[in-house]
Amino acid sequence: MSERLFIFDTTLRDGEQVPGCQLNTVEKIQVAKQLEQLGVDVIEAGFPVSSPGDFNSVIEISKAVTWPVICALTRAVEKDIDVAAESLKYARHKRIHTGIGTSDSHIKYKFGSTREEIIERAVAAVRYAKRYVEDVEFYAEDAGRTDNEYLARVVEAVIKAGATVVNIPDTTGYCLPSEYGEKIKFLMENVNGIHNAVISTHCHNDLGMATANTFSGVMSGARQVEVTVNGIGERAGNTSLEEIAMILHCHKGLDIDTNINTQMIFPTSRMVASLMNMPVQPNKAIVGRNAFAHSSGIHQDGVLKNAGTYEIMNPKDVGLDDSSIVLTARSGRAALKYRLGVLGVKIDDEDKVDKIYQKFLRLADQKKKVTDDDILMLAGADTAEGR
Ligand code: KIV
Ligand code: ZN
Repeated sequence: MSERLFIFDTTLRDGEQVPGCQLNTVEKIQVAKQLEQLGVDVIEAGFPVSSPGDFNSVIEISKAVTWPVICALTRAVEKDIDVAAESLKYARHKRIHTGIGTSDSHIKYKFGSTREEIIERAVAAVRYAKRYVEDVEFYAEDAGRTDNEYLARVVEAVIKAGATVVNIPDTTGYCLPSEYGEKIKFLMENVNGIHNAVISTHCHNDLGMATANTFSGVMSGARQVEVTVNGIGERAGNTSLEEIAMILHCHKGLDIDTNINTQMIFPTSRMVASLMNMPVQPNKAIVGRNAFAHSSGIHQDGVLKNAGTYEIMNPKDVGLDDSSIVLTARSGRAALKYRLGVLGVKIDDEDKVDKIYQKFLRLADQKKKVTDDDILMLAGADTAEGR
């Protein structure tokens, strides 16, 4: 029996707080409905105490979405929890996500507090949230830089207080994959009652390791991952949903499943990029413009003979029609001939193909990318000359 990994999407909270990515309530509802179609298990809809707009969006998303859990973020502060509970009143499945910083630097500089007092505040926040909802998630902010022995004490205390999910954020994106994996393993092995809660990853991408860290956490026993579409989020972003979903899709031997309908990945990516005004970098894994584009002659020749030579995923599995063969000065005769064939120009005479190819190379040296119109023109000129 395969194991289930829960997908917690925070595009509308950690993603939406990025400068320039703000959405209005109607746009947030559009994204939330798309996330529901995509198959995420939890939608973090906002931080309701932060503004009336965020509060209202959580209310409206709760009304618009049917089966995913709707989650609202709070600090470990009673007022935040009261407001979050109120914002979730229409949600069919609701979760309060409360927490506090646990690293020594957060304890000293943010709170001017002590380790013992932070445990008391964490427990009090979970107990307070439990008055409103059964499903309470606790986050240990900056867990990535929190001493493991102390973190284990915090996690044990909040689970005892009723936390159903415990989130271990690498808030600053500092951890190495091996280190983050070890941290989750340490908790799995040293916290009494750990199996009464789901352990969650929440990794930031400051060193480009968010996906690797998340994956390492999953291999050590985390069964929820906090992710965003296109990896958007604070600073360098969060773990990207599509990367985790496709890692598990491609590596079926791991026997870990998500509920993600992978064919919805590409349309969702484009919807979020356009609504948030945040273009996807062309070489972004899975959803970048070049993720399924082959431009070198050697690769094009291989892919035309058998897609599996250079493609580990079927583009259709992420919602694309097909991969693309981009015609550049690096392309070979096979790619040119293939493209002409797709455009309805079938040429069997190899000398003719060669003539067109020489013209094509001269043009490709001047232009970065040769278009379909260009090659039709080259082929037309050549066949006209040849007659
Ligand atoms: O990165 C972080 O620590 C967070 C928490 C608020 C969950 O976003
Ligand atoms: Zn975060």
